[in-house]
Amino acid sequence: VIYSVIMAGGGGTRFWPLSRQELPKQMHNITGNDIMINETIDRIKNIVPYENTYIVTADRQKELLKSVINPQISVQNILAEPMPRNTAPCILYAAMKIYKEHGDGIMFVLPADHYISNVPEFNRILRKAAGVAEVTDKLITIGIKPTFPSTGYGYIQYNMQNELVYRLETLPAGDEADGNTSTLHELSGVYEVEQFIEKPDRESAKSYIESGNFLWNSGMFIWKVSVIMDNFKRYLPRIYDEMESYLKAKDEKDEMEALEKAYSRIKGISIDYGILERSNDVYVIPGDFGWNDIGSWDALGAIFPPDENGNIIKADFIEIDTKNSIIYGQGKQLIATVGLKDMIVVNTDDALLICPKTRAQEVKDIVDKLKKNG
Ligand code: GDD
Ligand code: MG
Repeated sequence: VIYSVIMAGGGGTRFWPLSRQELPKQMHNITGNDIMINETIDRIKNIVPYENTYIVTADRQKELLKSVINPQISVQNILAEPMPRNTAPCILYAAMKIYKEHGDGIMFVLPADHYISNVPEFNRILRKAAGVAEVTDKLITIGIKPTFPSTGYGYIQYNMQNELVYRLETLPAGDEADGNTSTLHELSGVYEVEQFIEKPDRESAKSYIESGNFLWNSGMFIWKVSVIMDNFKRYLPRIYDEMESYLKAKDEKDEMEALEKAYSRIKGISIDYGILERSNDVYVIPGDFGWNDIGSWDALGAIFPPDENGNIIKADFIEIDTKNSIIYGQGKQLIATVGLKDMIVVNTDDALLICPKTRAQEVKDIVDKLKKNG
């Protein structure tokens, strides 16, 4: 059985002023189809049915999330964390919940706020990963061919010459995968990971890109529930020990108390730093399915093709001589620009952002500054 765990507790602060603490990025409809979290759920609905889909969010976002999420997701499957502790505790909480309710199974861990243009190809890669997770006790990552020396991603070093091939009688995720009607499935394109480096500095990132045998970590993971729990025991034993009282709790009241207590005592850490950088059991499957994590405003170009002037315009807009800019308006106001180049303009009902495209990452510092000023 395959379960999915959708991580939806982040703030998406680089998408201010659209993304707010009360209404973060994953709850916005950025593509024009549906809010990002629903797109994430529906993208894999042929592999993971709604009843096997779990969402982990912050307690304070839960009520709002309930009101916007696909109503076919049961409220029981929305897990609320008492406080943010980054992705490692979030993943262990979900793994323990699944383990308590159903026992072992395969777990897809997916961020709620990524964009994927080629969904059939994405499904093919996930099915392959599920097949490998079933027959091995490995931690499986999906690697993306890097295009620039980003310092905001994890990097995965692998040896292209050293391809692993698995032969499966049947795929765990149904037999329509690969359009292959025979029962023997060859799973190729799987590699052992030599090194996982989370968010390197600029110089290292440059050398990784030049070397050619590094991929970006997509932030999506596939493993058995029992395997990730064992990895926590080994690499993050303090978090595991604190969370064990949740695993053992007999009723909902005890569970809530155990969670509160554990979360208040554990230090936040991401799964990337906490486990993937440390483990020797990581595999990577390179994937090419139009992935973009839409990390900041300048990434809108990955979803919407720019017009003849290089502009991406989602607003009531009038311009003279405006080039290579991103103009996004949520309110009713008309936006007008003259002689603008390489700029981002985002207008909402109560805030206006103006920022050069090259500095889109710094929008999160505005959010920090706002918090400091109360
Ligand atoms: N429930 C919950 N609780 N979710 C969280 C928390 C938390 O405390 N913190 C983050 N998340 C969610 C975010 O909402 C997002 O969907 C996902 O977990 C990943 O967190 P990010 O904060 O966006 O991580 P990142 O972008 O810095 O880095 C990760 O993703 C990159 C690709 O986009 C890493 O896995 C990198 O290695 C990777 O390259
Ligand atoms: Mg992210």
